[in-house]
Amino acid sequence: MLLNLEIMAGHHLLHNRLVKAPIHDETCVDGYITADTEKNYYERTKGGRFGLVVVEHSYVRKDGMASPTQLSSSRDTDIEGLKKLADIIHKNGSTAILQINHAGCGASRSFTGLPSVSASNISVTCGWPDSKPNPDLPKPLTVSEIHELEDCYIAAAERAMKAGYDGVNLHSAHAYLLNQFFSPITNKRTDEYNGFTIEGRTRMHLEIIKGIRDRIGSKPLFALRLGGCDYTEGGSTIEDAVKACRLFEAAGVDLLDISGGTCCFTRKGHNYPGYFGDISEAVKKAVHIPVLLTGGVRTIKDAEQLLKERKADLIGVGRAITAHAGWGMEML
Ligand SMILES: Cc1cc2nc3c(=O)[nH]c(=O)nc-3n(C[C@H](O)[C@H](O)[C@H](O)COP(=O)(O)O)c2cc1C
Repeated sequence: MLLNLEIMAGHHLLHNRLVKAPIHDETCVDGYITADTEKNYYERTKGGRFGLVVVEHSYVRKDGMASPTQLSSSRDTDIEGLKKLADIIHKNGSTAILQINHAGCGASRSFTGLPSVSASNISVTCGWPDSKPNPDLPKPLTVSEIHELEDCYIAAAERAMKAGYDGVNLHSAHAYLLNQFFSPITNKRTDEYNGFTIEGRTRMHLEIIKGIRDRIGSKPLFALRLGGCDYTEGGSTIEDAVKACRLFEAAGVDLLDISGGTCCFTRKGHNYPGYFGDISEAVKKAVHIPVLLTGGVRTIKDAEQLLKERKADLIGVGRAITAHAGWGMEML
C-alpha cells in the first residue's frame, strides 16, 4: 500500500502518508485549550494512524482571531496548553505541527474588540464556504505594520517550538490574511506587496518564512498551506500556485499543503475525493519537496487511489475524522 510508505519531510521521517488535516473544533476558551480539546485530539489521533497531525489554526495576534473559540499562539501563557496537545499526539505516535494564522478581514470586531486589517480594504468570505463577509471593511496594513505582524508569526512559531512541536504550518489558504495578500481579488496594493506580481503577492510569506527559519533553524518541519487557486475570474490560478510554491521551496519550506483560496476548503460543483488535485498535481511536478492534498477523502481507498494517480505525496483528511474519531484505524 502506497499510503503505508514512509516519507521524509525536511529532516523528519513520517511513518506513513496519511495526514490529519487541521480542524478547528470550537472548543477553546479565551484562546486556551479545554478538556474537550484534549479529548478530541486524544480520540482522533489514537493509535498513531497518521504520519502527521496538523493542529488547528491558532491566532498569532488578537486582531487576527477567526472566531471567539479559536486556539491562540499569540501569548507566552498559551505554551502550556499547546504543549499538552503536542504531548498527546506524540504519545499516540504521530509527528505534530501547529498551524499559525491571522484571519485578516475574517476577524470581527464583535469578538476581537479591534479593527480588522488586510492587504486592501476589501472584505470577502473567509474560512467557511458560504459564510458572510465581515461587514466592516478592513484597514490596509502599512509596510511597517506588515513588519510588526510578521514578527507575531515568528513569535508564534517560536512558541510552537517551546511547546514541543516538530514544526509549524503557515496558513495561507481559505481567504485568511496571507491568502488575502496572495489573491489578486483581495490584494489591490501597488507597493512592494502588490497584487499584480507573484513577488508582491508572496513577499510577506517569504519574509515570514525567512524570519521563522532564522529564529528556529532548519531542523523543524516547515509546512505551508496554500490556497492555490480561487477558481474564479480574476483570482489566483494554478500557474500562480506553481510559481509561488517554487519560491516557497527555495525559501526553506519542507512541505506544501494544498487547499483552496477564496473558495475556502470546498470547490463548488466538485465533491469527488481530491477536488484540489489539479493544483497539487501541477505543484508536485514543479517542486522537489513533498506535496499534501486534502479535500473530499472519505475512505482509505480514496486516499490510496489519489497517491496511485500521483496527485500528491501525502493525503489529508478532515471531516471524515470529525464524524468518526476512529477513522483510519484500519491503517494499523
Ligand atoms: C469544522 C472545520 C474546521 C476547519 N478548521 C481548519 C483549520 O483550523 N485550518 C485549516 O487550514 N483548515 C481547516 N479546515 C479545513 C480542513 O482542514 C480541510 O481542508 C477541509 O475540511 C477539506 O477536507 P475534508 O474533505 O477531508 O474535510 C476546517 C474544516 C472544517 C469542516
